[in-house]
Amino acid sequence: MELKKVAEGKTKIVYEYSSSYYLLRFKDSITAGDGARKDEMSGKGTLNARTSAVFFKLLEENSIKTHFVGVYDDNTLIVKRLKMIPVEVVLRNIATGSIVKRLPIKEGEVFDPPIVEFFLKDDLRHDPLLNYSHLRYFKLLTKEEAERIEEVMMKVNVVMRKFLEEKGLILYDFKLEFGKDENGELIIGDEITLDSMRVRDKDNRIYDKDLYRRGEALEVVRKAYEDFLNIISR
Ligand SMILES: Nc1ncnc2c1ncn2[C@@H]1O[C@H](COP(=O)(O)OP(=O)(O)OP(=O)(O)O)[C@@H](O)[C@H]1O
Ligand SMILES: [Mg+2]
Repeated sequence: MELKKVAEGKTKIVYEYSSSYYLLRFKDSITAGDGARKDEMSGKGTLNARTSAVFFKLLEENSIKTHFVGVYDDNTLIVKRLKMIPVEVVLRNIATGSIVKRLPIKEGEVFDPPIVEFFLKDDLRHDPLLNYSHLRYFKLLTKEEAERIEEVMMKVNVVMRKFLEEKGLILYDFKLEFGKDENGELIIGDEITLDSMRVRDKDNRIYDKDLYRRGEALEVVRKAYEDFLNIISR
């Protein structure tokens, strides 16, 4: 069957599937610095599709709405059609990454309660931070919707943190993207993978895309993604 392409980004392709579903195909591309650096890591599409499926199922089991419908093939998920909001929502439990550059916060500081941030998806401007006024001005989210999303982020954090902690892993932060379904309801879309979260173990081993950001060999990055999928699938 010939699939019609709806959209293509840096790491995924969206295809038509049915009147209410799309296919979301994960590519082998790995990128950093808003696309400034790019490589092909064979097997990554499959690893990320599987990792996303594990987390979407986990959230659904905990009554959190996601776009996940099922698995189509090795690197493709069946998802609900959403009108995506071009905003990245980040929740941080432990400080690392952009926040320690942007604010007087030290690497490793613990946020209790966690910090939630909104960023505009705009690679050319390096995804600038947005507050409620910006979200309203750009007609991205009302204050009520932004608050609702913050609640969902907190709930997702509790579920994912507990799940990973039971496996000896620590969730530093994660990013979600939301979209609206045909009823205008806000639903989690996109992906939940090591590209979109930071996970370490008790010995401080890094499993996530920070390995690639730091310039580790692709073999090392792939091994970490594989090991992580094995751990969360047990
Ligand atoms: N359920 C969904 N319905 C519609 N679009 C979706 C869904 N889930 C994800 N998408 C969209 O799929 C596109 C491709 O994903 P990818 O992560 O490769 O894009 P990206 O590199 O982040 O950049 P951009 O979103 O700017 O194209 C994204 O635009 C994302 O918003
Ligand atoms: Mg993306």
